[in-house]
Amino acid sequence: MKGFAQTPVSDDGYRLWLKYDLINDAAKRQAYTRSTQFVSLTGNSPMLKSAANELSTGLQGLLGKSVPVIQNAGNRTGGIVLNRLTGPDADSQLLAKEGYRITSKNNTITITGKTDAGVLYGAFALLRQMQTLQPVEAISLTSNPKVQFRMLNHWDNVDGSVERGYAGSSLWKWYELPERVDPRYRDYARANASLGINGTVVNNVNASARFMTAEYLHKVAALADVFRPYGIRVYLSVYFAAPKTLGGLKTSDPLDPQVRRWWADKVKEIYQIIPDFGGLLVKANSEGEPGPQDYGRTHADGANMLAEAMKPYDGVVIWRAFVYKADPKADRFKAAHEEFTPLDGQFDKKVIVQVKNGPIDFQPREPFSPLFGNMPKTSLGMEFQITQEYLGFATHLVYEAPLFKECLDADTYVNGKGSTVAKIVDGSLHRYSMSAIAGVANAGSIRNWTGHPIAQANWYAFGRLAWDHTLSSEAIAREWVTMTLTHNPPATKRIVNLMLKSRDIYVDYNTPLGLSRPWSGVHFAPEPWQNRSSRPDWTAVYYHRADSAGLGFDRTATGSNALAQYRPEVRRTWENPQTCPLPYLLWFHHVPWNQQLTTGRTLWNELCTRFYTGADSVRWMQQEWAQVKPAVDPAIHADVSARLATQQREAVWWRDAWVLYLQSYAKQPIPAPYKKPDRTLEEVKRLTDVYLLR
Ligand code: GCU
Repeated sequence: MKGFAQTPVSDDGYRLWLKYDLINDAAKRQAYTRSTQFVSLTGNSPMLKSAANELSTGLQGLLGKSVPVIQNAGNRTGGIVLNRLTGPDADSQLLAKEGYRITSKNNTITITGKTDAGVLYGAFALLRQMQTLQPVEAISLTSNPKVQFRMLNHWDNVDGSVERGYAGSSLWKWYELPERVDPRYRDYARANASLGINGTVVNNVNASARFMTAEYLHKVAALADVFRPYGIRVYLSVYFAAPKTLGGLKTSDPLDPQVRRWWADKVKEIYQIIPDFGGLLVKANSEGEPGPQDYGRTHADGANMLAEAMKPYDGVVIWRAFVYKADPKADRFKAAHEEFTPLDGQFDKKVIVQVKNGPIDFQPREPFSPLFGNMPKTSLGMEFQITQEYLGFATHLVYEAPLFKECLDADTYVNGKGSTVAKIVDGSLHRYSMSAIAGVANAGSIRNWTGHPIAQANWYAFGRLAWDHTLSSEAIAREWVTMTLTHNPPATKRIVNLMLKSRDIYVDYNTPLGLSRPWSGVHFAPEPWQNRSSRPDWTAVYYHRADSAGLGFDRTATGSNALAQYRPEVRRTWENPQTCPLPYLLWFHHVPWNQQLTTGRTLWNELCTRFYTGADSVRWMQQEWAQVKPAVDPAIHADVSARLATQQREAVWWRDAWVLYLQSYAKQPIPAPYKKPDRTLEEVKRLTDVYLLR
């Protein structure tokens, strides 16, 4: 084939963690074969059929033999029985609505669920068991989701671009829909169902009103048709000013009767087209988006208007708490708490307020948002970002489960010790009527879905934690590596270890000790010197506050006093620079350059140590990855190696940018044993400028 590069047969990453390659261990295969002679289901519900088909396809691959799907096996043994309960049963008490129970008796495996969705999740769980080579002979596994709405948020635009997307363009081909339905949509649904994700918002929170037109609703309905058999409901982000721009009304004031009517009619139309529509997601009065405050109304007024329109239907309104104003004197950290806590108790029962994990914006490391714990009467949902906006796009290897866990496991102390963020989000602490967790998706049109092959693990980890936040980062990584990359135990161990360390390494060369990530136009290049923008909170200097005295944002009582938004137990630890955990130090304190830290080093020396060891650790990552070459598919191995090389180069860039810039304030040499950067600050700035060119 002259003119074309020869493509060796290799793994292109498309199959994600659902690879179902033949299990090499013949004894294992035999053991699994004993209880997988058939898959039996009763009836022909689409979701049960998805479960049966997935099992049949998966087992065919894993065991290398075909496994028929049969109707109602009766007393026949030796297969898998999908047992959708129709009435009370001994198992019913153990099961939540979407939970599953997998048991084995007489070489027959039974997957029980109260709903079709429960059985579907159980089917994927059984496959996972085999993909990770776990025994199934005496399996007894019960699992219930801890959170009710487990969703992806796609920041996808009508033109096919993805805001903060680094893996190609949007998965949704709006110009082809509804007639042409890309087969990929089904694989997307399978991947999500395998994790228990049950909802997806298909369009960007900076929403186009186009999605509210009949033309587009029919396109969205075609997606919903594909997702339905996998237990996934579609949701839409709405443009709050749609009554004006689309409906031709004079206002979009949420208290205006005509506006309310417009939304009620619109929601009715949506449900006519998509009968199981999940609900609406709203970004209002945030970063220039319209909202109720444009009319002197509150977020609750806006949300409740939509909730009223939703009343006749089984859908929800998800209202985002990501708000802040361009006030040079204000501390952006405090904004969401200040705006939302006074509204606690005012939101309709159908409203979930969706809160980003940290108070600012998906930084590499943030303390938990002080909204968690302070809105006991409002169902608060969690918003994590899977896509790596501030975590090196699709070139830096950052495994995010530790970031998610750090927030979920953080103790708010609202009801005494043990009042973790997870217990707020899963609704147990405040007895919320609804619970939700969302991840801003990292999937795009690139063949391997996520660009960086290891970024698939972040989608996976988000889904697994959304189902069960008690799982450990390590266990999730091990599962994912085994299902996706290799069955070789030493290689698995090495890759898992690399993944577990990756986030801290990134933080060390990017934003150590609680520095928050400077704003830059593209959120890519280091730019700590950036001090000019249309608004102060869109500069870098606003965040790090470097001056000749020291570094960091004073959020104690002598500063913005944002710490007052936390409970005394949290506040007391964090407000004292001696007890404030080092990872959060500069989030809360303006620390003198020569202040000795708990490590025994001065602030300046500690910063240098972090930047240098962080950047050096990327070399360690490269070495570790090189070691696993024989155990990993060559194409994937080469892809990750190349991305690590980019990461290494950029880590040094970040390090140099920060240390040279901060040095101009600290006025101290780079401490031994570290060598001073072999370029000047001006040279580094010129490099960053390249990325700011239009
Ligand atoms: C960040 C991000 C934006 C996004 C916003 C949001 O600011 O850079 O692209 O729209 O968050 O979450 O609404």
